[in-house]
Amino acid sequence: MTVTDQDFQLFIYALKNFSKYDFSQYSEKSLKRRLAKVLADNRMTLNALINRMKSDIPFIEKIVKEITVNTTELFRDPQVWQAIKYAVLPKLKNNPVINIWHAGCSTGQEVYSMLILLHELDIFDRAKVYATDLNTDVLDNARQGFYKYRFNINYLDNFDKVIKENPYNFEEYNDIAYEKYLTIDKTADVIKMNDSLREKPVFKKHDLVTEDNTQYVKFDIIMCRNVIIYFNYDLQNRVFDLFHKNLYDTGCLILGLHETILGSYSVKFQKKGHAYYKN
Ligand SMILES: C[S@@+](CC[C@H](N)C(=O)[O-])C[C@H]1O[C@@H](n2cnc3c(N)ncnc32)[C@H](O)[C@@H]1O
Repeated sequence: MTVTDQDFQLFIYALKNFSKYDFSQYSEKSLKRRLAKVLADNRMTLNALINRMKSDIPFIEKIVKEITVNTTELFRDPQVWQAIKYAVLPKLKNNPVINIWHAGCSTGQEVYSMLILLHELDIFDRAKVYATDLNTDVLDNARQGFYKYRFNINYLDNFDKVIKENPYNFEEYNDIAYEKYLTIDKTADVIKMNDSLREKPVFKKHDLVTEDNTQYVKFDIIMCRNVIIYFNYDLQNRVFDLFHKNLYDTGCLILGLHETILGSYSVKFQKKGHAYYKN
């Protein structure tokens, strides 16, 4: 099903009119593709979809969940996590409290990756971890910490690269059992994060388009990976402003591997390795 420019504008306008969601500053190309998929999956014409949106709030919530992209994995892009382990977290070793915000955390694998690293570096107890997303279904999944095993065997490879191996010293190998942090049940096809990790983060709904910092603390690290790629330039700037205001002066922002800060905020941050520090 093709979505024309006019269809797309009608959908965005209807969403804005009938709900609290504003997708008008999302990048058009990817959202158009998602809208085409939503129409095909729901076997609906755009007119039927918009008509139903007028009076059915739960339906709007369902559409918003379907339209966002939730792909993630444990220790996604291991080289970034190696940098967090060896260059970012050690700077915070003496902080009495370490505040971390995962904005756009999806089903939580990014949050569990951070929790495992905090534990390995012995700073878990001092960390306060907040994890937010627009989509309440992915937040429920994140709280449960349950993932399919067979689809996600690569999680274990990533774990090995970040936790067991040392990229700066190939002779070093820390034989840390997965069971320290997660339980694998191959028969049930499940990887489950251990309760000691699951109980730590505060998972909360938060919309980066419309809301300010709702945690009322400043942060040492803000992770916002593979989220701004879906936003246009103006919305990216709004989000950079939000993050800049809510980072401590020594704090840093970590974006997705292929995301960068362009425009006016590029001079307010300085990139060191994989992290953007406030200038
Ligand atoms: C591709 S996932 C990235 C997950 C994780 N950060 C990672 O890099 O693996 C993008 C997430 O951003 C969330 N998202 C999209 N728009 C958002 C918004 N306006 N506010 C908060 N989260 C949003 C989506 O629901 C989705 O879970």
